[in-house]
Amino acid sequence: MAKERPEKAEETEQMIEKEGGKEAAEVPGGAADGRDMRAVLLSAFGGLNKLRVARKVMPEPQDGEVKIRVKACGLNFIDLMVRQGNIDNPPKTPLVPGFELSGIVEALGGNVTGFEIGDRVMAFVNYNAWAEVACTPAEFVYKIPEDMSFSEAAAFPVNFVTAYMMLFEVANLREGMSVLVHSAGGGVGQAVAQLCSTVPNVTVFGTASAFKHEAIKTSLNHLFDRNSDYVQEVKKISPEGVDIVLDCLCGENTGKGIGLLKPLGTYILYGSSNMVTGETKSFFSFAKSWWQVEKVNPIKLYEENKVMSGFSLLNLLFKQGRAGVIRAAVDKLLALYNQKKIKPLVDSLWALEEVKEAMQRIHDRGNIGKLILDVEKAPTPLVSIILIIYCKSLLSSLWAAPLLISCSAAAPALEMGTVRCIEVGAGTAML
Ligand SMILES: NC(=O)c1ccc[n+]([C@@H]2O[C@H](COP(=O)([O-])OP(=O)(O)OC[C@H]3O[C@@H](n4cnc5c(N)ncnc54)[C@H](OP(=O)(O)O)[C@@H]3O)[C@@H](O)[C@H]2O)c1
Repeated sequence: MAKERPEKAEETEQMIEKEGGKEAAEVPGGAADGRDMRAVLLSAFGGLNKLRVARKVMPEPQDGEVKIRVKACGLNFIDLMVRQGNIDNPPKTPLVPGFELSGIVEALGGNVTGFEIGDRVMAFVNYNAWAEVACTPAEFVYKIPEDMSFSEAAAFPVNFVTAYMMLFEVANLREGMSVLVHSAGGGVGQAVAQLCSTVPNVTVFGTASAFKHEAIKTSLNHLFDRNSDYVQEVKKISPEGVDIVLDCLCGENTGKGIGLLKPLGTYILYGSSNMVTGETKSFFSFAKSWWQVEKVNPIKLYEENKVMSGFSLLNLLFKQGRAGVIRAAVDKLLALYNQKKIKPLVDSLWALEEVKEAMQRIHDRGNIGKLILDVEKAPTPLVSIILIIYCKSLLSSLWAAPLLISCSAAAPALEMGTVRCIEVGAGTAML
């Protein structure tokens, strides 16, 4: 295989130190014995320009670990926040981002049982997922069904386990209850909607950007524009409010969510998307969101019979040692998948080299479902991108349609998702 020659790395990127010191070093020009791999590298916290693909020494499994030849990786909202350094106790950079992947078991470390080389798996990884090869403790690895594609498998763990744990372990969702979920067209939002449909007579209220409504309207009972006064909209339909509020936005939505709870209802804070207001971390957005959070008095909760809780999957897995609880949830979720009751919604596939464009799509709120980094996908040729942007900018002209068709024919390898992203980008550019 021809080796990609990366641009010269900065001094600090030559050796990557991670907690535990297991992180593989970057290899400018590739390792002499060919035991190197492509990986996405975050050189420092900040904007999209801090991301690039580099060659690194391939990791080898330690005791208790599984080495996986990665096929696809999940791109989550938290990855944007990691890139910005917008998380608690961020690790040192440079680092390889990514918390979930799917692929094929390539080797086993000592004392690993239950897996064989060649098994198709999905896994959680505490960083380092966005690479051609990754190692992770066997307790975070799960075999996948034969009919589950690698893209689906990479879209599965974070979204469905988060949705499952919140609905069934924290909020105890039961027949006849009602749920409010924000970002309803996103990865977690769609997993929540699907899991709610597995329980009889559950009413799901959701908020999302208006352009997504047509695509996702059948997955929820009531859908509101994210900019609307959703509290009044919910109360018009259900004056008592709802049983479960899932809040990934934080800030002013915290008080609104708690206010919407019925007696014995549960509010769960599981994200702070409102803090992301641009490409880089904004202290102003952080302070505003923090300031707007309702300071809740437990005595008020007692008087009103309300439950307030929080959920963090990554902390549960990697800091609080609850891999067993998560495996039980994954087993139940895979049973639902096998019964065809749930199915990950994949928005689009991207090459590792297209990670910036993929992240931009989330910043632009363009995704419906999950974005996947497909390790084997070749980047979209630049000439195709230019042609399509050009054609899109001419859409209002009569002669644009035939030109658009010829452009599409000239770029047959383009993935649907990539085209959609370019449309969004072109639309933004035209505005
Ligand atoms: N606690 C946990 O364990 C856990 C696990 C997974 C995810 N999460 C959280 O759950 C939320 C959803 O995560 P996800 O990975 O499924 O992502 P996602 O929903 O696919 O994220 C993209 C969508 O979020 C909405 N959004 C809200 N605020 C935004 C902002 N400031 N910038 C851009 N988009 C914004 C947009 O949809 P609309 O415009 O349609 O609203 C956008 O399309 C995030 O807050 C994430 O941190 C938490």
